[in-house]
Amino acid sequence: MSPAGRKKTSHMPHPELSTLPEHVAIIMDGNGRWANARGLPRTMGHRKGVEAVRETVRAAGEVGLKYLTLFAFSSENWRRPETEVTDLLGLLKAFIRRDLADLHRQNVRVRVIGDRQNLRSDILPLLLEAEETTKNNTALTLVIAFNYGSRDEIARAAISLAKDVEEGRLKADQISASLIGQRLDTAGIPDPDLIIRTSGEERLSNFLLWQAAYSEFMFVPDYWPDFSRDLFFSALKKYAERDRRFGGLSAKPIAAVGS
Ligand code: FPP
Repeated sequence: MSPAGRKKTSHMPHPELSTLPEHVAIIMDGNGRWANARGLPRTMGHRKGVEAVRETVRAAGEVGLKYLTLFAFSSENWRRPETEVTDLLGLLKAFIRRDLADLHRQNVRVRVIGDRQNLRSDILPLLLEAEETTKNNTALTLVIAFNYGSRDEIARAAISLAKDVEEGRLKADQISASLIGQRLDTAGIPDPDLIIRTSGEERLSNFLLWQAAYSEFMFVPDYWPDFSRDLFFSALKKYAERDRRFGGLSAKPIAAVGS
């Protein structure tokens, strides 16, 4: 079935709780193609994409996920036509204005990753308000990647460490992988166990490059506006079958030949 033709149903039971990932990160791709396939303007795909965001956040909360990261706007997305950039920013602002109270009620904590320098004055205060309002919430942490690019994030961490060395607060040989991790925007957030990309594209697009060292990847054919609770739970079930080794040996028993 074509991704666009796939139907949403809501009957799938929760995946096994014992095998849930702690952190799922999603590259929400295919809004434009979803709209094109229907002869609609791209903006309609983004609009429908916000509904998929709501459904996914609710599903994540329902199943008890601790962290959900959504790639909302990359540092490269500024290269899109101005009308599309305005649309995307408008949708993010509307999402925070309309949904913040509801997220707060769901005990969701919002965190934003990405470069905050030089952000427009109509967006930064909203992002800060979302973080401030929800900072003591203890259920799901919703990490919104906005104006985010992984190489840029790593470069900013390097600058911060270099300044500490330059000003005598740190010795160069004290720099470790763990210290670099503490200077990234994701400091304090565990690395993603599972990274999902929708729309059939199979690449990372400058998303969480450092943090994805041992992540499992899942590429689903459906366009983001068609992503649903069921597709999310189905990805979690598949994740539970993966054998993660982190460079070591399998913890799962291997079936004997001929058994
Ligand atoms: C990729 O589709 C999607 C984006 C660039 C933006 C994702 C944004 C949203 C779903 C809305 C706002 C977000 C939140 C968190 C409320 P594309 O336009 O690249 O699709 P295409 O590859 O088919 O052209």
